[in-house]
Amino acid sequence: MTTIFAGREGKDTEKIRLDKYLCDLGAAPRSECRKLIRAGRVCVDGVTVTAPETKVEAASAAVTLDGERLAWKKYRYFMLNKPAGIVTATEDKRQKTVLDLLPPELQRLGLFPVGRLDRDTRGLLLLTNDGDFAHRVISPKFAVEKRYDARVEGTPDEADIAAFAQGLVLGDGTKCRPARLEITGQGACRVTVTEGKYHQVKRMLASRGKPVTELKRLSIGALFLPEELEEGGVRELAEEDLCRVFMVR
Ligand code: URA
Repeated sequence: MTTIFAGREGKDTEKIRLDKYLCDLGAAPRSECRKLIRAGRVCVDGVTVTAPETKVEAASAAVTLDGERLAWKKYRYFMLNKPAGIVTATEDKRQKTVLDLLPPELQRLGLFPVGRLDRDTRGLLLLTNDGDFAHRVISPKFAVEKRYDARVEGTPDEADIAAFAQGLVLGDGTKCRPARLEITGQGACRVTVTEGKYHQVKRMLASRGKPVTELKRLSIGALFLPEELEEGGVRELAEEDLCRVFMVR
């Protein structure tokens, strides 16, 4: 197994305004953070600072709120157990989005979904504010494995397994990379792909005459959705979780 990613910190010397620092942490909305600072509740390196525009060294400053030490991180990474019926977007005029499922302090972090799950697909979705990380997870160049459990009409067979392994060509001529298909039961299978074309798993199975009735993403790389994370639940990723994303299971 090779580890190629362990999360990124901001540049050591990066200086940011104190109110932004607090807001980035999810402490409160920016206007509230200004009030907290003006009220003398925030100390930087042991000194009370009451000017919200004061610049702090984000990575090294010791900042406290009401005496509690805060740890600033530029980049944040979360996993969400996405329920069906929610759109993978940052905003939508009519429908509930994955960001609407987050508590308010996380909604302020500028997170976006890493790739997309269909509205009716459930399971593991990553959220971050780190564009480079998202690119590495999504880009076929890095071939990160995404594993799905599907319920289908009919039952896949050995010919389907071979066709997936060969690399399917869909009805519209789209060529898919070789993928792994495992039969997990009557009308049930597991699919592992290393790319993320539009409705990819559904289209692959439909092309073999096995339309999908339910789809759930189980894992990305060697990072699995924990059983104890309930639908709609969110959890911040630790450094070792980030490494797992780029490991082969
Ligand atoms: N493939 C699909 O068809 N849908 C998803 O949501 C994810 C992968």
